[in-house]
Amino acid sequence: MKKLNKILVTGGAGYIGSHTCVELLQTGYEVVIYDNLCNSHAEVINRIEAITHKRPKLVIGDIRDQASLIECMNEHQFDAVMHFAGLKAVGESVEQPLKYFDNNFIGTLRLLEAMQASNIKTIVFSSSATVYGDPVYLPFDEKHPLSPTNPYGQTKLFIEEMLKDLHVAEPDWHIGILRYFNPVGAHQSGLIGEDPQGIPNNLMPYIAQVAVGKRESLNIWGNDYPTTDGTGVRDYIHVTDLALGHIKTLEHLAQQPKLFVANLGSGKGSSVLQVLAAFQQASGINIPYAFKERRAGDVAEFYANPNLANQFLNWKTTKTLDTMCLDHWNWQQKNSNGYSAV
Ligand code: NAD
Ligand code: WQD
Repeated sequence: MKKLNKILVTGGAGYIGSHTCVELLQTGYEVVIYDNLCNSHAEVINRIEAITHKRPKLVIGDIRDQASLIECMNEHQFDAVMHFAGLKAVGESVEQPLKYFDNNFIGTLRLLEAMQASNIKTIVFSSSATVYGDPVYLPFDEKHPLSPTNPYGQTKLFIEEMLKDLHVAEPDWHIGILRYFNPVGAHQSGLIGEDPQGIPNNLMPYIAQVAVGKRESLNIWGNDYPTTDGTGVRDYIHVTDLALGHIKTLEHLAQQPKLFVANLGSGKGSSVLQVLAAFQQASGINIPYAFKERRAGDVAEFYANPNLANQFLNWKTTKTLDTMCLDHWNWQQKNSNGYSAV
């Protein structure tokens, strides 16, 4: 059993990374955040401190800058890396694929080389359920064929392949690959949450911005899918449940060298109209909406079989869709202009 204490969190200023830093600090780990702040705000450090009464160090740097990474690794003796840093906008990745391969794939390659040079051999990687692509069967288990339908998803698949090849060559690594479904919600304090730049692509941030009066009406992309009510079904997971899955993964990896791949999802699908109803209930606000044409690239249903994580990590989601909406609304109300308002 390896003793893990000090964790380097790349992308730790972002949405999922910041929630994971809170859980790491509250579990007793030491945390250093490495982030170039291209999609986040330094204010998040104050918020993490307000919640945990511990202040993580923030190193502002790019994961593609290997000298800076190695300097950071030399200064601290890290036991493991949690790797959240990456770009995640599917549409942008279709328009600018090279930007995504450079940032996500080359960035991860530089990070792994820096880890190798610094003799750090434990990593938890933020993959995505998007690696599965269109469902051949549902729910998705980890054996489902991998066939991403956009460059963003390709970068995740290529990184997974790189990690698998690394583990074949160097079996003393401890590697966790986590395939997230649809993370939503916010820390229950309302101090940290998702802070999308510009018009949100994702459903819950969009609904929340309509509720707070920043946008007029929700466009529901398609009501003719073969689902219970015709709208798309997804597996929403509270970001705190997701963060706790990372802590369990670290504990699991500490036992012995291995490569571990798992879905992190609830196993339950919810339709757009069900999410909308739950958000209206949580906020007490009526959300105007209109049905529109299907969005290119969307599928009818997409949800996880989370049995592997349940069994090997002793982890499962505990927070309901109602709690996800309540917490998301609490964050949105308290921070209607995100962190940039500070
Ligand atoms: P986010 O944009 O909020 O956080 C990512 C963080 O990484 C940001 O703080 C950004 O500034 C930083 N970053 C990006 N490129 C960097 C670089 N080259 N060097 C240093 N820092 C860099 O996104 P998130 O929602 O917290 O996602 C975290 C990870 O989880 C990403 O890898 C994403 O692809 C993956 N993921 C997210 C979702 C989702 O729906 N949010 C789903 C599946 C997987
Ligand atoms: C959910 C449902 C939409 C917005 C994306 C990425 C995926 C992953 C998570 C990173 C769908 C509908 C949405 C709106 C709507 N990210 N919708 N009106 O598409 O499942 O997944 O985020 O890895 O890679 O593709 O999430 O929140 O965009 O959509 O009707 O304004 O809500 O059609 O049915 P998606 P989403």
